[in-house]
Amino acid sequence: MKTILTGDRPTGKLHLGHYVGSLKTRVELQNSQEFDQIYIMIADAQALTDNFANPKRIRDNVIEVALDYLACGIDPAKSTIFIQSEVKALPEIAFYYMNLVTLSRLQRNPTVKNEIKLRGFEKSIPVGFLNYPISQAADITGFKATHVPVGDDQLPMLEQCKEIVKSFNATYGDVLIDPIVVLPKNKEAQRLPGLDGKAKMSKSLGNCIFLSDSEEVIKQKVMSMYTDPNHIKVSDPGQVEGNVVFTYLDVFAKKEDFLKYLPQYKDLDDLKNKYRQGGVGDVVIKNFLNNILQDLLRPIRERREKLSQNIKEVYKILEKGTKKAQECCDETLQEIKKAMKIDYFESSEFLQEIIDKYQ
Ligand code: TRP
Repeated sequence: MKTILTGDRPTGKLHLGHYVGSLKTRVELQNSQEFDQIYIMIADAQALTDNFANPKRIRDNVIEVALDYLACGIDPAKSTIFIQSEVKALPEIAFYYMNLVTLSRLQRNPTVKNEIKLRGFEKSIPVGFLNYPISQAADITGFKATHVPVGDDQLPMLEQCKEIVKSFNATYGDVLIDPIVVLPKNKEAQRLPGLDGKAKMSKSLGNCIFLSDSEEVIKQKVMSMYTDPNHIKVSDPGQVEGNVVFTYLDVFAKKEDFLKYLPQYKDLDDLKNKYRQGGVGDVVIKNFLNNILQDLLRPIRERREKLSQNIKEVYKILEKGTKKAQECCDETLQEIKKAMKIDYFESSEFLQEIIDKYQ
């Protein structure tokens, strides 16, 4: 059985970084027909670990993320979209995993360490936040996921999950599945920089192109992109490295795009060479990128608009998906409890044991 589990925190609408970093791979995996089950989780409970004081933000974005998924081509007939907090077996599973993980191991998790700094949690770390790698291990193993497609920032979480799997199986018997991490194939796409050239496209840095942005907004954002500050006149030689427009072209430009929008250049190497020599204006490369991004995002935005006109259907998709997810994790929880010898009323075994002991 091949099962995918992955997900996102609903802290805002999804953006182009999500698209190249994970959504595109998910849709490809979904359509490859290679998987028996695909679960895509809206991780509201995890989002609350660092947004506990702002529950409305999370609630509001559950539906936005669902719309983004469906607009990108996640097909509810093939993939199960569900809401994490409604799957009550997950925190129960996580509760038992807590016995298998030390405090120092959690504090050493590089992603957690980094986020503690970013959130200003150094002085006092909320237990729920520190615990989220354990909760994420429950998400993955609760579905017996064999494959977890994620961005490379999630590697420490998966590492920790694998440790929990090994420890659980060694202690209680072979119940959990050790998942395979699936990273996006395209190296550049693993971490798309923001419009400003900052390391990562991120909502909190305000440097995103959202999947739901209008044509005008996309254009405006592309025109504001960081290029080469020393490339002032068109005739000046320009730098390609660190020039965000070229980083994006590396990810998005295809040969056909040159034929369609920039036939005077053979391919990206040709454009880069001429830009380096001088004579190619920033407006030319920005217009080119804008055309490519408009072609990519137009169908996504249009599907999103259609879906939002039929929002009851989206609600029903979430409700149905969540029910299926509950059933799947309830089954795993029973197996876990049996292995841990805390299955008292599931079968007559416990009753028989105490009868043998006392009667
Ligand atoms: N931590 C992931 C993120 O921040 C979201 C997530 C929660 C997740 N549980 C997961 C991803 C399980 C993959 C598998 O994007």
